[in-house]
Parts: sequence; structure tokens; C-alpha cells
Amino acid sequence: MRRMKMSAQGPEFSRMAYGTWRVLDTQPTAQEINRRLNVCLELGITTVDTAEIYGLYEVEKALGEALALTPGLRDKLEIVTKAGIYVPCKYHPDRRTAHYNATGERLIKSLDKSLRWLSTDHIDLFLVHRPDWLTRADDTAAGLNRLLAEGKIRAAGVSNYSASQFDLLNARMAQPLVTNQIEFNLFHVEPMTDGTLHQCERLGVPPMAWSPLAGGRMFDPENRAAKGLAAVAAELSERYAGATLEQLAYAWIMAHPSRPLPVIGTNRTERIRSAAQAEAITLAREDWYALWEAAQGRKVP
Ligand SMILES: NC(=O)c1ccc[n+]([C@@H]2O[C@H](COP(=O)([O-])OP(=O)(O)OC[C@H]3O[C@@H](n4cnc5c(N)ncnc54)[C@H](OP(=O)(O)O)[C@@H]3O)[C@@H](O)[C@H]2O)c1
Repeated sequence: MRRMKMSAQGPEFSRMAYGTWRVLDTQPTAQEINRRLNVCLELGITTVDTAEIYGLYEVEKALGEALALTPGLRDKLEIVTKAGIYVPCKYHPDRRTAHYNATGERLIKSLDKSLRWLSTDHIDLFLVHRPDWLTRADDTAAGLNRLLAEGKIRAAGVSNYSASQFDLLNARMAQPLVTNQIEFNLFHVEPMTDGTLHQCERLGVPPMAWSPLAGGRMFDPENRAAKGLAAVAAELSERYAGATLEQLAYAWIMAHPSRPLPVIGTNRTERIRSAAQAEAITLAREDWYALWEAAQGRKVP
């Protein structure tokens, strides 16, 4: 697995990351999560994506327990976590409405909690999970800048920001933001045309692509676009050493000139292994467009 620098000063990540949003869906033991992390490591997938809110605030704790089972494992991985989404839940019955909060004070509080749950003294990349419409960029930046200065986070970034929201916050940062983690896949191609990926390319900031398989919708037999995509993928497969639809879908994302880093979401180790092989696939130009046409259900204009 190749690696890449997220900015001139780092950090350096694996070309694909492992995402933990759904990690508790199968009610795994800490040993099972630990095994999955070790499979990632063996494949060279060293970057692990999580967030305070995943599993309604329970995933980070589960990850911390899984990491603790292999001494030294944490230091072989780059941990990405996020904060800024607060929803009513059993820990916070006082919350009435789901809301975003990207004030510096709130981000610092959340990050300190993430460090405790993950049993680590630093986070490799800390992301503001969603833009908070009520917070001044100066306020958000003050919190992130303080965490950077204290060494609690090695780099800062954002998620689900528009290009202009990114520009605004970036202008207030002591150290440039290193990614925008966004939804980007064959069923969600808007970032290619709304300026998000152009900005990443211009700034040399690789985006992280969440839901690279459209959250599994790519395999829904009831979905017309999925059926079309599966047919084209089957036609192309032979040209790419029998590559599967998901491998072609990952390769499709990585082919974009902004160098997106797919965040793999499967809970199955055999699918993690298969995903890692996609990194070696270089799609021919016409095949990339053929996949776009199949997924979008229309001809290239
Ligand atoms: N920043 C954000 O706002 C944000 C939002 C969403 C996600 N994320 C990050 O992105 C990561 C990935 O997102 P995601 O989980 O939506 O990724 P995804 O890869 O698009 O979807 C994963 C889902 O697809 C299923 N799947 C995979 N291969 C399949 C196949 N061949 N046939 C049928 N189903 C298949 C998986 O089931 P199995 O487990 O059974 O394989 C899983 O339920 C998350 O873990 C999280 O870290 C970030």
C-alpha cells in the first residue's frame, strides 16, 4: 500500500483508510476489533478514521479497548477523529435537539475526551465533523490552533465543508488544514463540479472520501443505477485481472486528480483485503468514464 503526505509538513497516511462508523453494528468483541485493525496493518492500511459521535459516542471507547490489546499497535497507526456533532442520547438526555458546535471550547473538550477513550496522548488528524453555521471561523480556529500548539493534535482538517467554508477557516489557521473529508463515490459525484475537489487539488490537500461504496447502495439489486453499474463492472472486470465492482469503485475514486483517499467502511476482513488490492488498479480513461455513465444513468454530456 502506497503512502502519501497530506501536506508538505505531513502527516503521512496510507493511500486508503479504514473507517469505524459501523464498527459496532455487528456487536464485536474488543478482540474482534483488534483482529480487524491488525489485518489493516498487515495490508499497510495504517490510517484509521473515527469520530466522537460514532456508535452514539461508543466507538472511540471500543477502539481504545481494542488498541490496548496489542502493545504498540496505536503507534503503528494514524488516528483520525472528529468532533462537533451533538445529539440527544443516553449519556445526554438533557440535549433536546441534534446540533453542531464548532466553538473552540467545545472542540477542545471533545478532543480531550477522545484522547481518554482512545488511551492516547495525541491524535494524528482532528477534523471538525460538520460546519457549524453559528460559530465564527476565528472561534473554531482558536480551539484548533491551541490543540496544535499543545501537541494534542498533529494536524487539523474539516469534514463536509464547502470550498468557501474551507477557505474561511483555513485563513484563520496557524497551520493549514490538511483535508476535507467528504462524501465522494460513483453515486455522489457533485464534489467534482461544486468546487470542493478543485480546491483540494489547488491547495495540494488530499480529500478523504467517505462512503466510497455509497454506504452499500451500490449493491442493492432494487437500485436501477446499481444494476447498470454492476453490468458495466462485470464487462470491465476481465481487463483488470478479475476486479470486483467494489475494487473498481475504489479505483475510480483514487483516479481523480485531487488524489482522494477512500475511507473503507466494511466490517468484513475479507472485504478489507479485497479493498486493499484496488490501490494497484489504474483505470483506463474510457473505463473511468464508462463507470461514471453507468452509475449516473446517462451519457457524458
Ligand atoms: N465525515 C463524515 O461525515 C462521514 C460520514 C459517513 C462515513 N464516514 C467515514 O467513512 C467510512 C466509510 O463509510 P461507509 O461505511 O458508508 O462506507 P461504504 O464502503 O460506502 O459502505 C459500507 C457498507 O457497504 C457494505 N458493503 C461493502 N461491500 C459490499 C458488498 N460487496 N456487497 C454488499 N454490501 C457491501 C458494508 O457491509 P459489510 O460490513 O457487511 O461489508 C457496509 O454496510 C465510515 O466508517 C466513516 O469512517 C464519514
